[in-house]
Amino acid sequence: MNAHLVIAIDGPAGAGKSVFGAALASVLQAMCIDSGIVYRAVTWIALARGLDPDDDTTLSPVAASMNLQIVPPTVQDGRQFTILIDTEDVTWALRTPEIDRTVSRPSALPGVRRAVTEQLRHLARESRVVMVGRDIGTVVLPEADVKFYVTATPETRARRRADELHARGQEADVADILRSIIERDARDSGRATAPLRPAHDAVHIETDNLTVDVEVAFALDVVKRCLRSATAPETNDV
Ligand code: DC
Repeated sequence: MNAHLVIAIDGPAGAGKSVFGAALASVLQAMCIDSGIVYRAVTWIALARGLDPDDDTTLSPVAASMNLQIVPPTVQDGRQFTILIDTEDVTWALRTPEIDRTVSRPSALPGVRRAVTEQLRHLARESRVVMVGRDIGTVVLPEADVKFYVTATPETRARRRADELHARGQEADVADILRSIIERDARDSGRATAPLRPAHDAVHIETDNLTVDVEVAFALDVVKRCLRSATAPETNDV
């Protein structure tokens, strides 16, 4: 089994990257890091402290020094893990429509991105890692062994997000969510620093009509083939 394995998964909001990444990581016995959580955490702190979400000078030290922990689930309410900022459980607080609407702003700041990228690279030194985000294959981990770019139509993504909110007993208007997703896509793709785009060597997966099991089976096949063509015979064993 390959000891060190780095997989980058990028794509727009709601494309199904996180669920796919977690499932793939579980099969590969890898750590799954959802980098969006880190940008959401910076945004949550900005809103909680009344800081300007567009002010890089204020927010980059926040991004560099915040006490963010991702631990196994402490409550059985559908979460994949528990997220703590200092000691506060912010798992669902990072997923509110207000954070969804605001998160692209701190994410566009070069100093914030530098601080977050540094932390993410540090985490990726661990061993086997599946990292999910917008710029993982292009900026954070350009040397990743395998890169995936996961997409779905905005309509599919909005419907999934609404289902997710309904499952947690929250109100959700698909048309509002669709508008917010389209705006976020435009901001994530249009920003000057590390815009959302596929790495030239990424394998594309369109998830509209795929189950997670099918995606994972396809991805495992790609991983095996990439490792086989990259190096020695022992890499056949993913
Ligand atoms: O994947 P997500 O929806 O949780 O990400 C939240 C925001 O964070 C997204 O709008 C863009 C930003 N992000 C980013 O700019 N770069 C990443 N690697 C991950 C997320």
